[in-house]
Amino acid sequence: MRIAVIGAGLIGQAWAIVFARGGCEVCLWDADPAAQTQAVKLIEQLAVTLQTRGLIADASAIVSRIATADSLEDALANVDYVQENLPEKIEIKKEIFSRMDALTGPDVVLASSTSSIPASAFTEALPGRGRCLVAHPVNPPYLIPVVELCGAPWTHAEIIDRAAQIMTEVGQKPVRVNAEVQGFVLNRLQGALLREAFKLVQSGCVSVEDLDVTVKDGLGLRWSFMGPFETIDLNAPEGVRDYCARYGDMYTSIAQQQTSTDAWSEETIAAIEAQRRALLPDDSLLDRRVWRDERLMALMQHKKQMDDPGCA
Ligand SMILES: NC(=O)c1ccc[n+]([C@@H]2O[C@H](COP(=O)([O-])OP(=O)(O)OC[C@H]3O[C@@H](n4cnc5c(N)ncnc54)[C@H](O)[C@@H]3O)[C@@H](O)[C@H]2O)c1
Repeated sequence: MRIAVIGAGLIGQAWAIVFARGGCEVCLWDADPAAQTQAVKLIEQLAVTLQTRGLIADASAIVSRIATADSLEDALANVDYVQENLPEKIEIKKEIFSRMDALTGPDVVLASSTSSIPASAFTEALPGRGRCLVAHPVNPPYLIPVVELCGAPWTHAEIIDRAAQIMTEVGQKPVRVNAEVQGFVLNRLQGALLREAFKLVQSGCVSVEDLDVTVKDGLGLRWSFMGPFETIDLNAPEGVRDYCARYGDMYTSIAQQQTSTDAWSEETIAAIEAQRRALLPDDSLLDRRVWRDERLMALMQHKKQMDDPGCA
């Protein structure tokens, strides 16, 4: 399968690795030639790191499947699927989708990595709008496999199916978002948790550090291998209905105290920032990001082994 990756920034580089790791021929293009050259260097380094961690078998084979193009036209020649990764601006998305629609055959799937712009906002006027959708990754998609697929009202069901199939074939975990809700599903869940976390810290109920402990040494341990619905299904003797009967009233009562829609206040942000900087000074942020990525790689290695005990 031939894939065009349009835009070679952070997310474009990551998608190039995902598709090449999945055995696809990838053509990468960016309007800025320097960004494109830099992207290839970073991809080479990243592939070696992933090989060292046992997350890919052969870095050089993956890199050899990634070519670059001198123009959008060249990048889109004979492709089956396009993943767009330009900056998060609606005018840029409109322009690139209009060009991609004009330059590709009607069966080519055109997907955007956009985090927040619904496909209907940049595809409405296109003759080929039925083959356009959002395929929203989580950064970095070569380590975090979830990808949210969300079409516009006019996106054909077969296109979503094809995108889901392609994503599955390259090792991602597609999630179908069946309506154009802001933030799709992942960021809505993250937003709900953050809102309550801010509120609990603001009221002095818990410190920033202890709130993070509650998630990383509590809820999050289960969440790395099963979701909240499977969690509650297993947390009452008779399953999900039994759980709701036992704890439903408590959650309803909590929900009635969670109705505020206020923006996060400057005072709360400053308090959280102060507590975080006391735990992690400014000049350690970069090192800690490297630590985060290493932990994530180790976790994915572990999950891979648990899912497929036969592989080393
Ligand atoms: N960064 C994240 O964590 C993340 C996560 C999920 C989704 N996304 C989405 O992915 C998309 C890309 O984000 P990113 O973080 O990779 O951005 P980025 O700034 O790292 O990369 C954007 C690239 O687009 C190129 N570019 C800019 N204008 C262009 C044009 N008109 N034509 C061709 N190339 C152009 C730039 O040279 C740059 O290399 C955005 O829509 C963003 O919302 C980002």
